[in-house]
Amino acid sequence: MAGFSVGEDDFEVDGRPVRLLSGALHYFRVHEEQWGHRLAMLRAMGLNCVETYVPWNLHEPRPGDLRDVGALGRFLDAAHEAGLWAIVRPGPYICAEWENGGLPHWLTGPLGSRVRTRDAEFLAAVDRWFRVLLPQVVERQFDRGGPVIMVQVENEYGSYGSDQVYLGHLADGLRGLGVTAPLFTSDGPDDHMLTGGSVPGVLATANFGSNARGAFEALRRHRPKGPLMCMEFWCGWFDHWGADHVVRDAEDAAGALREILECGASVNLYMAHGGTNFGGWAGANRAGQLHGGVLQPDVTSYDYDAPIDEHGRPTEKFWRFREVFARYADGPLPEVPAQPAALAGPVSAELASHTPLDVVLDALGSAEGTYAVPPSFEDLDVDRGLVRYGVDVPGPRRPYPLRAAGLRDRAVVYVDGVRAGILTEEEPVLAEPVAGPARVELWVESLGRVNYGPRTGEPKGVTGGLLHERQYLHGVRARALRLDAFDDAEAVRALPSAEPAAGGTGLYRGVFEVSGAGDAELELPGWTRGFVWVNGFCLGRYWSQGPQLSLYVPGPVLREGRNEVWVLETEGAGEPRVRLS
Ligand code: GLA
Repeated sequence: MAGFSVGEDDFEVDGRPVRLLSGALHYFRVHEEQWGHRLAMLRAMGLNCVETYVPWNLHEPRPGDLRDVGALGRFLDAAHEAGLWAIVRPGPYICAEWENGGLPHWLTGPLGSRVRTRDAEFLAAVDRWFRVLLPQVVERQFDRGGPVIMVQVENEYGSYGSDQVYLGHLADGLRGLGVTAPLFTSDGPDDHMLTGGSVPGVLATANFGSNARGAFEALRRHRPKGPLMCMEFWCGWFDHWGADHVVRDAEDAAGALREILECGASVNLYMAHGGTNFGGWAGANRAGQLHGGVLQPDVTSYDYDAPIDEHGRPTEKFWRFREVFARYADGPLPEVPAQPAALAGPVSAELASHTPLDVVLDALGSAEGTYAVPPSFEDLDVDRGLVRYGVDVPGPRRPYPLRAAGLRDRAVVYVDGVRAGILTEEEPVLAEPVAGPARVELWVESLGRVNYGPRTGEPKGVTGGLLHERQYLHGVRARALRLDAFDDAEAVRALPSAEPAAGGTGLYRGVFEVSGAGDAELELPGWTRGFVWVNGFCLGRYWSQGPQLSLYVPGPVLREGRNEVWVLETEGAGEPRVRLS
């Protein structure tokens, strides 16, 4: 058969068997000017294919407000130029340690658990989005001279649901939009996952980190024929704030990779190069067997302990994998490309100007509304950002505990203008009881929406009410500060400012000079939690609890000469300077 196809035993190109040696690289986690370098690194490791997800919520932050959908096409063109085939996983749900698993908050808010099902409203929204997105893929398919060889239906759907009508609708929809490349599903190698997530007549693949033989046996119970593929070989792993940094030994990973290839299977490394959750788009997990436990927000780095690290450098794992792949290559592997330049020397930037959070909110936030009960972030149309809730405790009355029921995720609380403590989901009650009358303010921050498991898409904010003793406090003021308000650099520059004070919250701004721009790490010693922008590019969240203690600054973000840095501190600033090195 001409073109790329799924044969009885193998993938085939023009009827000739081929093995897919693929690696995940998410275009939205790598600065566009670095795509070429990273793709060349994949080739040099011995890969012949790149795989990417597509995050719907990044491209459609509000209904119909489409942002740079062409990025996917440009990335696929770059892959083609690099001599790689491409696998596209368009979702609509992608998991991927990405905010809300890629689903827009404006859908999960109103629809709740009706997302990822046959629900008519959900399907209509997906169909609309796919009509916009899929042309990027369709015109770049292998049979039209492009790199795209396969397209995924949903993502590990069997870990979530059992709605075959939904999966069938997606598969038919992709075909209807012109996808002629083979479709596939990917699921954990468990019977319930494979039966929940596979689609009759569509190639099924398995995701795992070790024991390839066992995994492929499980897959064979469901699919006696067809090429074997590990669609996600977890050669590293991701980190959560407040937990230990996770690593996977290079030799152990290389052994597991060898086993996959010895089974005659194809593989997609998850991740070949992880990159960074720029812009505060990191997602979150919930702990516990059935994923109803404590919130575990993901860090900004998506280094993933991958063979190509966050800076694009080869790690020991890269060299081990290269040895393994070399045995399956048609000829000698391309040379490893030179590394991108690093920043010539350390730089310290003074943050000479400060704007209190209230003033930032006045200028960049939404108008204040008053609501019977606290609105959720979804009600206020906030994907990433903060909401200031305000409520009056009537009086006179004696002191009682004040509680933010169903708090997600974290609140800095002020009583009559004085900092009174920090509330979390686990500790939603203020340490000191509050007497009335009092004016209470809660600055609530989303730490990233859950991207995996039954609680994917749950709302953020104060979701259960504000209570004094057992009494609900009604008449709640709320005002939202979306992170993307900072995309308007002129508005940020126009903010009034004063001398900075250590220990406070708010926006801190400064300028610094660079000569010899290149990749760097940015540190904020003594600061607590917030977001950093360099020249208007949001590097992501920092948080003193680690394990991540510095943020990656892609070289292309820096300029020769004058540069601007903004830090939005939401809990307690340190000395007013940042360090780049
Ligand atoms: C699953 C998902 C991926 C990712 C990995 C863990 O396999 O399909 O999107 O979340 O887990 O990194």
